[in-house]
Amino acid sequence: MSRVLVVDDDAGMRAALEARFRRRGWRVETAACAIEAIEKFRRGQHALVVTDIRMPGADGFWLMREVRAVAPSTPVILLTAFGSVPDAVTAMKDGACDYLVKPVAFEELERAAERILASARPNAEANGNLIGHAPLWLRALERARQAAGTEADVLIEAESGTGKELVARLIHRLSARRERPFVAVNCAAFPENLLESELFGHTKGAFTGASSAKPGKFEQANGGTLLLDEIGEMPLPLQPKLLRVLQEREFDRLGDTRSMQVDVRVIATTNRKLNEMVRAGTFRADLYYRLNVIPLGLPPLRQRKEDIRELANYFAGLYRPTGRAIPFREEFLVALEQHGWPGNVRELANCVRRAVALAPGPDIGREALAEMEWSAQQAQDIPVDAALRPGVSLDEAERKLFEMTLAATGGNRSRAAALLGVSLRTVRNKIRSYGLPECNAYVHD
Ligand SMILES: Nc1ncnc2c1ncn2[C@@H]1O[C@H](COP(=O)(O)OP(=O)(O)OP(=O)(O)O)[C@@H](O)[C@H]1O
Ligand SMILES: [Mg+2]
Repeated sequence: MSRVLVVDDDAGMRAALEARFRRRGWRVETAACAIEAIEKFRRGQHALVVTDIRMPGADGFWLMREVRAVAPSTPVILLTAFGSVPDAVTAMKDGACDYLVKPVAFEELERAAERILASARPNAEANGNLIGHAPLWLRALERARQAAGTEADVLIEAESGTGKELVARLIHRLSARRERPFVAVNCAAFPENLLESELFGHTKGAFTGASSAKPGKFEQANGGTLLLDEIGEMPLPLQPKLLRVLQEREFDRLGDTRSMQVDVRVIATTNRKLNEMVRAGTFRADLYYRLNVIPLGLPPLRQRKEDIRELANYFAGLYRPTGRAIPFREEFLVALEQHGWPGNVRELANCVRRAVALAPGPDIGREALAEMEWSAQQAQDIPVDAALRPGVSLDEAERKLFEMTLAATGGNRSRAAALLGVSLRTVRNKIRSYGLPECNAYVHD
């Protein structure tokens, strides 16, 4: 998250700026005089300093020079009373980034700060639009960057909605294969026989309905990267065939006896714990070890709460109706920070999308969360003791959990999937296998 240092001897001004900047998702520190400011700056090395010029004691120009002495490229925005504009112009020649005349037009100041922060942010380009500055998140990105520099296959194991696909694309973009294709296959989206031909292709007449030959995703990704999404859903009988490509970079089209060679880097993702599946016998150990050359975890959103504001603002910008900026009230952002986000960034994105789309007034407050099941705390009203106590089988507890979650979401399966941290397909399968009430009771969204 960006860090801004706001310096003004006027407490009201400090508070106003702090509130506005915080609403943008920027972390803000304040100082009441230049001396306090430079002490804080030495410790924090903020990405941007916004300072009043005329203050008792040392002034804003002095502060600017001191800041430059510590970190020469730090941008400084000077806030100046009308009388000292000529001085500010001189200061700009000395390298102040910008100056604004008081009384400050907040919108203008925010725009200037936004512009400066965007260009000052290191790796902004390389990270694409991957938002967030939490240490855990940055560490994961650093690992992704390291993996990109190698030819090894990568396994991304993380909860649903944490950004697995985004990071897979980042790895491809940063790799030597970037000019070659990036092809994605969702293993959960196909039944077994179709997944096989999807991956490996087939010859004409290989099976009923195969009216022409078709290349598979491995061929399409040749020279590039193949994303195998939700690898945990890969049917057991297909797993040896996948292992063979990974080991020998060789496979057969369905119906063809001649093997084909490919040069593909595989990135596999899963929101299930593959080692547990190995133990349960539903995932092959050899395939697991082969995929797990470079394991990569992504932190769940609840472990990077400091990114929530920035993400919320980012999504608000993405989803807002054109020409209309709808600011968040502090209470809304606080509520977002307090939520546990079992569906992670995807859930946050959906939440903001809905709040922005439905906003009745000029800004967005807590009321926008009223229909979120978690804000109403309905979930807590449902007794859990019956479902969870020693003596209940895992199956029974799971069944109960699916049932309760579906009830809490009014039967909305997508939301249930997000809350449970599983795929929509898993929810559908569980409804079927546990014989939970079928479609008539549950709505689609
Ligand atoms: N750091 C981030 N910055 C911006 N957008 C993000 C970030 N992380 C995730 N998103 C967005 O959140 C959504 C979920 O991300 P993504 O599809 O990569 O997650 P996933 O882990 O693959 O989820 P799933 O397990 O549901 O497939 C996407 O819309 C993505 O653009
Ligand atoms: Mg995904």
